[in-house]
Amino acid sequence: MLAKVIEGRKIGRTLGFPTANLEFLNPAELPENGVYAVDVTLHDEVFLGVLNVGNRPTFGTSEKIAEVHILDFAREIYGEILNLNIRKFIRHEQTFDTTEALKNQIEQDRDEAAEPETPYGSKTQAADL
Ligand SMILES: Cc1cc2nc3c(=O)[nH]c(=O)nc-3n(C[C@H](O)[C@H](O)[C@H](O)COP(=O)(O)O)c2cc1C
Repeated sequence: MLAKVIEGRKIGRTLGFPTANLEFLNPAELPENGVYAVDVTLHDEVFLGVLNVGNRPTFGTSEKIAEVHILDFAREIYGEILNLNIRKFIRHEQTFDTTEALKNQIEQDRDEAAEPETPYGSKTQAADL
């Protein structure tokens, strides 16, 4: 899935999770709303990422957006094309009462995305297989 990095509202940075807002080159490829662990290829480098697709109900918005937080990454990539591959579905989108609760959940999402050995669609530990 190819996506271009576009300007966002930059709230992610204030949460401590900078995200690249995405414009899918083929909108038909946009996944169902939810949070996913993804591989993110930028030129010839591959990074781990956590993709959020949804309406960000916590912030009272209704526009459907896609954004990715790339782990251990701090570069300006506006205008770059990313190649995203979904590794696994993590969870459905939720409405949080506080931004603190959302932040805690995103931390867990990130930790889950940081386990590339976990097979798609499974919560089974690799050692149990
Ligand atoms: C991994 C991840 C999961 C997220 N999950 C939710 C969610 O369940 N509910 C929600 O309202 N927003 C969720 N958000 C969206 C944040 O609200 C979003 O990052 C914030 O609005 C920043 O947007 P901006 O980059 O346009 O500033 C998630 C973001 C990320 C990166």
